[in-house]
Amino acid sequence: MVSRATSPVLLDRLQASWYLVRFLFDPLGTVKQAHKAFGPFIIATAPSRWPIRRQNPNPRPTFVCGIGADFNREVMSDPITWRTVPLGPGGPRHSAARQVSVGIFNFRGDKHKHYRQLLTPPLSRKSINAQGAQFCHIAAAEVERWPINEPIDLWAYSRALIQKLVIKVLFGDDPERGVPIAKLVDHFYDHVFSWRNFLCPFNLPGTPYSRMLREGELLKGYLLDWIKTKRGFPDSDDLFSIVANSHDETGATPDDVEIIAQVPPLMVAAFETCQNALIWTLVLLCQHPRIACDLLDELQGRLAGAAPSVELIGDLPLLDAVINESLRILPPVPQQFRVASRDTLLGDVPVPRRTKVLLSPFLTNRDPDLYPEPDCFKPERWAGIDPSPYEFFVFSGGPRMCPGSLFGVSVVKVLVAAILIRFRVALASNALIDYKVTLTLTPNGKIPAILYCQDGDFSGSPIRGRIHNLVRFQN
Ligand code: HEM
Repeated sequence: MVSRATSPVLLDRLQASWYLVRFLFDPLGTVKQAHKAFGPFIIATAPSRWPIRRQNPNPRPTFVCGIGADFNREVMSDPITWRTVPLGPGGPRHSAARQVSVGIFNFRGDKHKHYRQLLTPPLSRKSINAQGAQFCHIAAAEVERWPINEPIDLWAYSRALIQKLVIKVLFGDDPERGVPIAKLVDHFYDHVFSWRNFLCPFNLPGTPYSRMLREGELLKGYLLDWIKTKRGFPDSDDLFSIVANSHDETGATPDDVEIIAQVPPLMVAAFETCQNALIWTLVLLCQHPRIACDLLDELQGRLAGAAPSVELIGDLPLLDAVINESLRILPPVPQQFRVASRDTLLGDVPVPRRTKVLLSPFLTNRDPDLYPEPDCFKPERWAGIDPSPYEFFVFSGGPRMCPGSLFGVSVVKVLVAAILIRFRVALASNALIDYKVTLTLTPNGKIPAILYCQDGDFSGSPIRGRIHNLVRFQN
């Protein structure tokens, strides 16, 4: 166990209520403010017992916010004590919405190990190298279709691009069936993570909860249809086919519902993260024209007219640094939650069973000792640092660390290269760039932009919106 010099600050009931409610509306801003006010180790006890019933035997729930590498390591290296929490409120016990969101994130013990082992090979370096030509080809062909010289929503194009690419490469190259499902998964999880869903988990017309239940039904139907093309057709590159054609951890053959349940969480793990990494990298490059210009020089120098390939862009220092810096400052998964399965200690502080811990990649990645001027986008800093996974807390750490990190980074690198070689991307002047936090840190609304044929004439234009709360733009 790691000892931390810091002792916790205990919030009183009033402070706890204020921060817990604010957190629902502005998680990153609230955690940032709490960290500034109280330091890296905060304990808040909910003002009342949940559920609120007479003679409720439950103690009041305890929440801990722990910021920093030591915290991350302590919690993430002990997945038996610190369990993952379900993705969103789910739905009634036997609802389709609940059935289609029980994937690897919720598995524990042998089941978790078993499915992790199944899913790791197609995401490995070997597999990326083997599939590299295919996904570079898809990337180039898709980017080629993007319109020039007209206003577009760059976010919509980036999402569609990632969805198509991931469906083709990781879900058996079946875009006719896969892309509509991917879109539905996107909507479904938007409702799952809506704060309104947490406040009003009732099936009333017009609520995100009722939409979540409806879309859960739809999704289940589509997936049950799709599984017919997967059962009996094993494909070692297709995550759905791998799960559909394997035994479970006990050696038994899982039924269709157990199998399809795993697909939406896998899709969301792959799309949501890569989509956000791609769009934020493009936004950051638009607002840092000198870096975009240097990056184009690096790419043109290496590619010399060839299309981007995994080998050609494998070790480009500035491209690597740009992607790392983008993931650092706007991490696709900006916060992680765990719950204590037993009474335990954090450092030497006792915390009861069911304590919920919030870890913050967003703030860990802004530790000024490791990342001076943490709110600035400075890819050059990566020439001199080599942080551990707990210090650069983007892919989590320990036994549940993201198995798709290499794949995700390769996808984003190839796409940034393909886009930059072909286009000069300019955000619309005075564009409103806002964000929201669901499972991921994601644009809230459109990203209005225009693509010009690449002429190297980079210049940033002023933008508005809450993105300025997260990044201090310099150029
Ligand atoms: C830039 C891209 C990516 C980022 C930033 C990212 C980030 C993360 C993070 C932070 C976690 C831990 C979540 C938690 O335990 O609470 C995670 C887990 C996971 N990721 Fe990724 N991810 C990325 C790409 C991918 C891709 C492309 C896949 C492919 C399917 C993937 C599959 C998974 C899976 C299956 C898990 C669960 C691992 C487990 O519980 O053992 N990720 N990812």
